[in-house]
Amino acid sequence: MSKVDVLLGLQWGDEGKGKIVDVLTPDYDVIARFQGGPNAGHTLEFNGIKHVLHIIPSGIFHKAKINVIGNGVLIEPAIFRDEIVALRQKDVEPTDNLYVSKKAHLILPSHRLLDAANEQAKGNAKIGSTLKGIGPAYTDKIARTGIRVGDILEFDFREKYQLLKFQHIQLAKTLNFDVDSFRINNMTLDEYEAVWMDSLDTLRKFKLINSEYFINRCLKEGKRVLAEGAQGSMLDIDFGSYPFVTSSSTITAGVCSGLGVAPSSIGKVMGITKAYCTRVGAGPFPTELFDETGRTLCELGHEYGATTGRSRRCGWIDIPALRYACMLNGVSDLIVTKPDVMNDFDEIKMCTDYIINGEETDEIPFEFNEVEITPKLAVFKGWKQSIADAGKYEELPVQLRDYLSVIEEKTGVRIMMVSVSPDRKDVIFR
Ligand code: GDP
Ligand code: IMO
Ligand code: MG
Repeated sequence: MSKVDVLLGLQWGDEGKGKIVDVLTPDYDVIARFQGGPNAGHTLEFNGIKHVLHIIPSGIFHKAKINVIGNGVLIEPAIFRDEIVALRQKDVEPTDNLYVSKKAHLILPSHRLLDAANEQAKGNAKIGSTLKGIGPAYTDKIARTGIRVGDILEFDFREKYQLLKFQHIQLAKTLNFDVDSFRINNMTLDEYEAVWMDSLDTLRKFKLINSEYFINRCLKEGKRVLAEGAQGSMLDIDFGSYPFVTSSSTITAGVCSGLGVAPSSIGKVMGITKAYCTRVGAGPFPTELFDETGRTLCELGHEYGATTGRSRRCGWIDIPALRYACMLNGVSDLIVTKPDVMNDFDEIKMCTDYIINGEETDEIPFEFNEVEITPKLAVFKGWKQSIADAGKYEELPVQLRDYLSVIEEKTGVRIMMVSVSPDRKDVIFR
């Protein structure tokens, strides 16, 4: 009996999960997404190709590996079809090695309408959602009114769809949302609905399975399974900076419910952090930099959303948040990405604690969104050199190793890998 290893983001998303899953895939038989949906944007780069995945697991470029979209994921069929088309343009044919859970919930066009209506109604308090319909679709799942992938094979699918759509439109109207002016990809709701309905044919051609049986059978046969997280722990529905979060369980616990595996079946938990910190959308970000350094991180790190193209807010690494994430997830191995972005920095700072009302704390307060948090910053010397050619951990500049060792000391977790470029080949295993 083997176990499910987990790889997830420890910050506010975009830690480099796509790249690292792609790097680790040769060691696994199955790669499975367990939560989130098209709000995710996971970037892979190799052989001069850059590819962004949203719903499809990041193991898909390895032909011999099975990729599973688990029951905890949300599928927007038209976005799914676009992803399949984009893969085929790169000579990847996923029909045989991509399985989809029948229990995964669907995002309807009218979920996307409601997402926009909710954000508009929030005014200045808006979350900065990716507007892919995530919140409303998970709302329907929890309210027991959602539609699942398996339902598209049923005779009463259209009826269920129409009823839910009707309810969504009524709700949007009560929020004073102008339904007639709403557009998705420049299409009205009805025009987009036609595209969406048409895209169901693509979804039907895939193996639609009870993925919990499939995964547990794989474990029983000793196959190696890697669960790929989306978003990050600080966007978790329970423990993130609520309400500025996504609507799913982004932590290790989400693997159990999002794939149907028992807690005792969880193996290694690999947590990824950038060597600094970013956040897209609204919500607290104690180490955010509003100065030239912040802009430099954004430019050199190409910190623009892989899904929405929005520029990401940038700041120093946040140890209280990272420690919190390590605790919640039971992280056994740390992976640090993007230190190369700070190659030319004279100084690098690290927030070791928060100062709130004059008091130091290393805990995330309940009032995270309301209180003023001053980060207590430790200062490190920059390494001022390229790290592209370091083949081994020991070959990394001593200043960088000093910085990394403090991250290990503060989190109590050993760093197993450092990533030094967007490309698949540029990783240093410890
Ligand atoms: P994900 O959502 O966690 O998969 O991350 P994204 O793909 O949204 O954002 C990470 C970005 O950083 C992508 O553009 C990656 O190509 C890039 N990236 C990943 N690892 C590294 C690294 O070690 N160095 C640099 N410079 N870029 C990286
Ligand atoms: P990956 O998997 C970064 C953010 C949005 C918004 C909030 C809620 O690429 O790391 P939602 O659309 O889920 O209702 O948005 O969460 N967000 C992400 N930020 N990376 C992501 O995914 C994200 N998915 C959602 O910007 O603030
Ligand atoms: Mg991303």
